[in-house]
Amino acid sequence: MAFVNRTGLCAFEKRVYLSSPTMHGDEARYMMEAYDTNWMSTVGKNIDSIENQVAEMLGVKYAVALGTGTSSLHLATKLAGEHLYGIPSANEGALCNRLVFADDMTFAASINPIGYEGGRAVFIDTEYDTWNMDPAALEKAFSLYPEVKLVTLAHLYGTPGKVEEIRNICSRHGALLIEDAAESLGAEYLLCGQWKQTGSLGDFGCISFNGNKIITGSSGGMFLTDSRDDADKVRKWSTQSREAAPWYEHEEIGYNYRMSNVIAGVVRGQLPYLQQHLEQKKAIYERYRDGLKDLPVKMNPFDAERSKPNYWLSCIIIDESAMCRQVRDGRNALYISEHGKSCPTEILETIASFNAEGRPIWKPMHAQPIYMNHPFVTAEGNGRARSNAYIDEGKIADVGMDIFRRGLCLPSDNKMTPEIQERIIEIIRRCFD
Ligand SMILES: Cc1ncc(COP(=O)(O)O)c(C=O)c1O
Repeated sequence: MAFVNRTGLCAFEKRVYLSSPTMHGDEARYMMEAYDTNWMSTVGKNIDSIENQVAEMLGVKYAVALGTGTSSLHLATKLAGEHLYGIPSANEGALCNRLVFADDMTFAASINPIGYEGGRAVFIDTEYDTWNMDPAALEKAFSLYPEVKLVTLAHLYGTPGKVEEIRNICSRHGALLIEDAAESLGAEYLLCGQWKQTGSLGDFGCISFNGNKIITGSSGGMFLTDSRDDADKVRKWSTQSREAAPWYEHEEIGYNYRMSNVIAGVVRGQLPYLQQHLEQKKAIYERYRDGLKDLPVKMNPFDAERSKPNYWLSCIIIDESAMCRQVRDGRNALYISEHGKSCPTEILETIASFNAEGRPIWKPMHAQPIYMNHPFVTAEGNGRARSNAYIDEGKIADVGMDIFRRGLCLPSDNKMTPEIQERIIEIIRRCFD
């Protein structure tokens, strides 16, 4: 329990969420249309409509509607594996025992599909400029593992990563790039002098319509590509991989991953509001930035010249000099409250005690028990086993762990009024008293 001065501040009557769905009415109309016309299936007008709209909006030739962002990442990963290494047998993944370079500080759903296909993720450290994959660490990773031919890149919290550098490194090493744009729908990046939407920047793109995303279907995702063959393949795999026979004939493994026409109705109703949500999220970010500017914290950064984030989640990182002591084990966190200082645990506990929801930064994958024995590469080289009991190595680089330790996600719900946000800012301020 936090010991913050609560004088004059009362708890929020209604919970303030990190990022919750915001419905507008049309969603129910399109869902009912599916019901009334009996297209209660994985085919129908809603699916056709959103596939066309999203492809056009993001500047890709094809969008394939799937059940989740995770399923789109899975099929993108499988497709990349088949392009690189050929068709696996039914009991093997397309990446069987192959290494794949992947983000370190991200959500596990970004990484797990590599494992679904029998591959092994090599985690690439994060950079401070955008909180995404560090191109210098990626370059280092290719020098350590030159055989790698696949990279997955996420745009954390809606902020585009250093795509141009990463694409150049990938093409120099003949590697394919999967873009995980689950969190960044609507964000843009200036690639070779042209503004492009995230999701359209790699060889394969993936987006999510999960309930907490900038627009939602309650669930849902999409696979994005310019290749007709790839889109057809993903559609086939997502509907159990039927061959062209009158009966159910199968030459390859299939999945039940297609989006429902009812869910697609929700997405169809949301799409016209993406721009409005983007503006609301940006206003939230700017209010935090202005309201917190005299505290020893910084907002999650972005490259203003080369990117326009979607501001999905507003985050802060506490200056090292203003961090009170905080320790975390695999389950719990403790801290010692100090005058003029704070830490993510104190701030998260305090805002929770006022009925508002924040979240720690994604805990880096190289420190997750399930991936503890996977390689981890920083800009300096191998990121494992770098300290020496007999030699002072100085500060050992691990940017993701540092951002996890000092950073947190703030309530970023687009239904949050400026008054509510003012109160959250005041609560954070008092954590530093
Ligand atoms: C970075 C990232 N990748 C992948 C996913 C998975 O998307 P979904 O929840 O739609 O499966 C999410 C979010 O949920 C995510 O934040």
